[in-house]
Amino acid sequence: MKITNESDRRSFIKKLAATSAAVAIGADVFSAERSNIYLESLIRDFKPGINDQINIALIGAGGMGVQDTTTALQIPGIKLVAVCDLYDGRLADAKTKWGADLATTKIYKEILNRSDVDAVIIATPDHWHQQISIDALMAGKHVYCEKPMVHDILEGPAVIKAQKKSRKIFQVGSQGVSSLGNEKAKELLKSGAIGQLNYAEGFWARHSPTGAWQYPIPTDASAQTVDWETFVSNTKKRPFDATRFFRWRNYRDYGTGMAGDLFVHLFSSLHLITDSVGPNKIYSSGGLRYWKDGREVPDVLLGTFDYPQSEVHPAFNLSLRCNFVDGTSGTTYLKLVGSEGSMDVTWDSVTLKRNKTIESDDAFYIEQMKKAGTPVQERKRILAPEEYTFSAEKGYLGGPYDHFVNFFNAIKSGGEVVEDAVFGYRAAAPALLCNDSYEKDTAILWNPEKMQLVKK
Ligand SMILES: NC(=O)c1ccc[n+]([C@@H]2O[C@H](COP(=O)([O-])OP(=O)(O)OC[C@H]3O[C@@H](n4cnc5c(N)ncnc54)[C@H](O)[C@@H]3O)[C@@H](O)[C@H]2O)c1
Repeated sequence: MKITNESDRRSFIKKLAATSAAVAIGADVFSAERSNIYLESLIRDFKPGINDQINIALIGAGGMGVQDTTTALQIPGIKLVAVCDLYDGRLADAKTKWGADLATTKIYKEILNRSDVDAVIIATPDHWHQQISIDALMAGKHVYCEKPMVHDILEGPAVIKAQKKSRKIFQVGSQGVSSLGNEKAKELLKSGAIGQLNYAEGFWARHSPTGAWQYPIPTDASAQTVDWETFVSNTKKRPFDATRFFRWRNYRDYGTGMAGDLFVHLFSSLHLITDSVGPNKIYSSGGLRYWKDGREVPDVLLGTFDYPQSEVHPAFNLSLRCNFVDGTSGTTYLKLVGSEGSMDVTWDSVTLKRNKTIESDDAFYIEQMKKAGTPVQERKRILAPEEYTFSAEKGYLGGPYDHFVNFFNAIKSGGEVVEDAVFGYRAAAPALLCNDSYEKDTAILWNPEKMQLVKK
């Protein structure tokens, strides 16, 4: 197996050498030592080609549903015709935002029965994703379903089956996978920019009540304004509880914890960049350190994942962390490390660092090498790594916009989306298995090709 194509690698280096002179930041900006820093703009040159109207409806009109719909409506030809939610306040807000003539309902099947709806956005809490996705596909609607695709590891295959059977377009909403940053990282990895991949890591840090899922609870929340019976109809029945309804992420019946909420984005991006189908061993640990508000999920979570060698990448390890009590706060990153460098990847940029030398002028090191019988011939300095920053050009509309363009273009052309049910399940699975690993305090084995649990 040839993991990195040597001629691709050489041509990448040659190409950089040819272009970097034009974009090198001169010594007057940085010190001479750091003049090996290069900048390049990432440009999105497609124009959305949606001319005929596509009618959409939103199911779950909370924070993300509103954001998704707002993004979708930026694309020419997209019209919102109906909104479904279980809370009166959200339906009233939808009419205020999108017009008094907007159809609203608390029953999602009424949306699916409408002949004027071509596609639905599903942005309910996680425990409703599977059922509504399958019902929507089987009702002949195209579906954009928020991440994670499913709430439980066993729920994925039925969604994949429904997508295949219905032949409708199904896109999962880890929008970063459509971004310029993710695409550039994929191209760089393929061209050998960091050598042979051996490790990746990702991190989410937060330190605020809303960041830690303590969302405001509306003052009029009650069994009269919320359809609680429907909310819990596919899980354990309980008396009305506004905290559970509005802060659903904290409870396992509805949410998927830090891993399902956040790690899943990193899996999606990593799988896009590496073409990987996923890890075969998953282990996580963590704890509830600070936000002891009755929640059932940890607020600090670590996960380690073994990615086996495949046709398209070498074996590598992944380490993910999430901390909601993080004093450094506000950071999110995804880093890929290879034998010759590393890449920090965001949706809008990639920073590539390539190391020049491993020789050192450290006296202790030189002495040790002498003793070991492999003396350092010349005293070399460690050069600052070559650094290349690829940033999206000003005015770039971002991964969320690109992801919806990808979805609507697929509907128009009958083409493929970047994050279909198989991709979505392969990204959700290791995240969901993190929760299982944490709860059972054991590593979980997974066959990412077959998408099946493996008995130990
Ligand atoms: N892609 C991203 O970056 C991103 C970001 C945030 C949230 N999300 C995902 O979006 C989904 C929604 O998250 P949120 O933060 O918007 O939550 P939210 O609580 O703000 O909104 C969820 C809405 O769904 C409604 N709802 C609940 N059950 C319903 C049902 N059966 N039928 C119709 N409506 C129902 C609720 O009343 C609420 O208004 C989650 O799956 C979450 O993981 C994705």
